[in-house]
Amino acid sequence: MKHRMIKAFKQANGGLFGHSEKADVGTSYQEMEKQGIALMGWADPFMPDRSLPAHIQKAWKEAIDEESSTHYTAPVGSSELKAVLAEKLRTFNHLDVIPDRNILITPGSDSGLYFSILPFLEEGDEVLIPSPSYPNNFTDVEIMGAVPVPVLLKKENGYQLDIDAFEEKLSDKTKMVLLTHPNNPTTTVYDRKSLEDLADFIIRHDLILVCDQAFEDYTFGKEMITPASLPGMWQRTVTVFSFSKGMGMSGLRVAYVVADDEIMDSLYANAVAVIGATSTSSQRALIRAFEDTSFMKDFEKHFDDRRKKAYEIFKDEEDLDCLLPESGFLFWLDVSKLGDSSKIVAYLLKEAGVSVNDGKNYGPGGEGHLRIVLGVYRDDEKVYDALYRIRDALRKFHED
Ligand SMILES: Cc1ncc(COP(=O)(O)O)c(C=O)c1O
Repeated sequence: MKHRMIKAFKQANGGLFGHSEKADVGTSYQEMEKQGIALMGWADPFMPDRSLPAHIQKAWKEAIDEESSTHYTAPVGSSELKAVLAEKLRTFNHLDVIPDRNILITPGSDSGLYFSILPFLEEGDEVLIPSPSYPNNFTDVEIMGAVPVPVLLKKENGYQLDIDAFEEKLSDKTKMVLLTHPNNPTTTVYDRKSLEDLADFIIRHDLILVCDQAFEDYTFGKEMITPASLPGMWQRTVTVFSFSKGMGMSGLRVAYVVADDEIMDSLYANAVAVIGATSTSSQRALIRAFEDTSFMKDFEKHFDDRRKKAYEIFKDEEDLDCLLPESGFLFWLDVSKLGDSSKIVAYLLKEAGVSVNDGKNYGPGGEGHLRIVLGVYRDDEKVYDALYRIRDALRKFHED
């Protein structure tokens, strides 16, 4: 029945009939795990080792024992959790919100991101997306029948935003800017100039900003600015947050979306139809997580050490190019001098026993690059060992 599908689904390959090495498609990843391949393409802290701190694990178990956990919370989320989050939004993001008006709890931020974009797009609308960036930015927009318009990021200016490039791509169909901040895969933390220029551009052209801050927690001293906190941006920004990357709670499936009353009223009205309620026990565990967030210091230390080490390992390689990661636990490696990135990904799987992501998955500008996830495994040495294997294999790579 493919012929009855919309274009975005018709052209999608889920791994059943065609080979797919995309980390998040089909079952290829499970197969690789069985073969003992080092999985460095799965952005999930300490995977496959334990990430959840003991006090949260305990709270989660206790929540499961509570009889009321077998029932739904309101589809818009637990008020108690939202009150906790309002405090975090005030201190970390400089946003003053009313918990039961401006926060929506979602089952993960992938669905949160999709739902944040959904109210605004009609067939043919154009969305400006700095590229390379998170693949779902492009996919979500296409599923909605709208048109993703990549705005190329350049290594020469540290992958920061160039507003002239945005102006060039603007048309009378442009409705939205979709920003992943900090960016996945380049790790860029957009600086004040980039974001103030972007805010000015968005306000001047009466656009919406959807900003995904899944990687906001670790920026290693670089200022993390939440665009919704900039003058004039609160009413026209939907911000998406996650607990998966910064707190290692990907398996709990809880995230949240923040917006002003007018946007949120529409999201609340349709939340049950599109995303449904989020796990009751997971939301309860999250409330307890915020009672003690000291474990995040330990996460930060691991990720900081790893980004410096990865940069050390690759920076002087003749045929490679990279920047010191600015956030989180990803590494963006330019292999364009060596050849085609898809061939290199396949080669590393065989030669180094390591699975990394092909930069092509991240949109225009991603080709010729690899995304390596430094956040996997508890043991730093295991990560370093895999990085050395990648480096040594790349030294021997020749495209046929
Ligand atoms: C930029 C970005 N946003 C959102 C997500 C989704 O995370 P989750 O649905 O676990 O909150 C990811 C996961 O890889 C991501 O990289």
